[in-house]
Amino acid sequence: MKISYHGHSVVKIKTKDQTILIDPFINGNELTDLKVEDEHPDVIILTHGHNDHVGDTVELAKKNDSLVIANHELATYLSWQLVKTHPMHIGGAYEFDFGKVKFTQAFHGSGLITDGNEIIYMGMPAGLLLMIEGKTIYHAGDTGLFSDMKLIGERHPIDLAFLPIGDNFTMGPEDAATAASFLQAKKVVPIHYNTFPPIKQDPNKFVELLECEGQVMNAGDVIEY
Ligand code: NI
Ligand code: MN
Repeated sequence: MKISYHGHSVVKIKTKDQTILIDPFINGNELTDLKVEDEHPDVIILTHGHNDHVGDTVELAKKNDSLVIANHELATYLSWQLVKTHPMHIGGAYEFDFGKVKFTQAFHGSGLITDGNEIIYMGMPAGLLLMIEGKTIYHAGDTGLFSDMKLIGERHPIDLAFLPIGDNFTMGPEDAATAASFLQAKKVVPIHYNTFPPIKQDPNKFVELLECEGQVMNAGDVIEY
């Protein structure tokens, strides 16, 4: 399995026979190396309804007939745009052909903000646990620190955790380092920083705060299991 990072919260997982994209915010993401026309995901998984996470989901899903996995409200909204969806919700796990997905809690917002000065309710934001090819990957989505990360870590042996460090909208570096300890993650990769001025951070300083292994990934970098 190849796991790559593509700026902001975009993570790609290539399993034996499938490509999974998490939070595919490509157009408007100055830190990504991806182009919408080059991506052919079989599956797209969304943490929440904010524009910097839903990103190019509709275009990608329609072009590639991708399955979009999202919380019930967001999945329903996307199904109205004729996207193939699988709705889930917090605490629930489901076995897909590529592996198992479990939705975990996240403390954040999840409204989709439209051009027409409207905010559409998209359900609760979530984090993701992915059990694929014998490894457990946690993508925290956008969230503040919460002590139940200890519970997530107790119940799931996390091999790799993607944690937001940008501060302002999510955990900052110090809270994210505490999150890493709570989760007992074997390895941590920082995400959701430097995309916008209020979330400027030095990821190397974050990695120095970690008790476990940390890795700063640039757009396109790959971790292989
Ligand atoms: Ni958000
Ligand atoms: Mn965000």
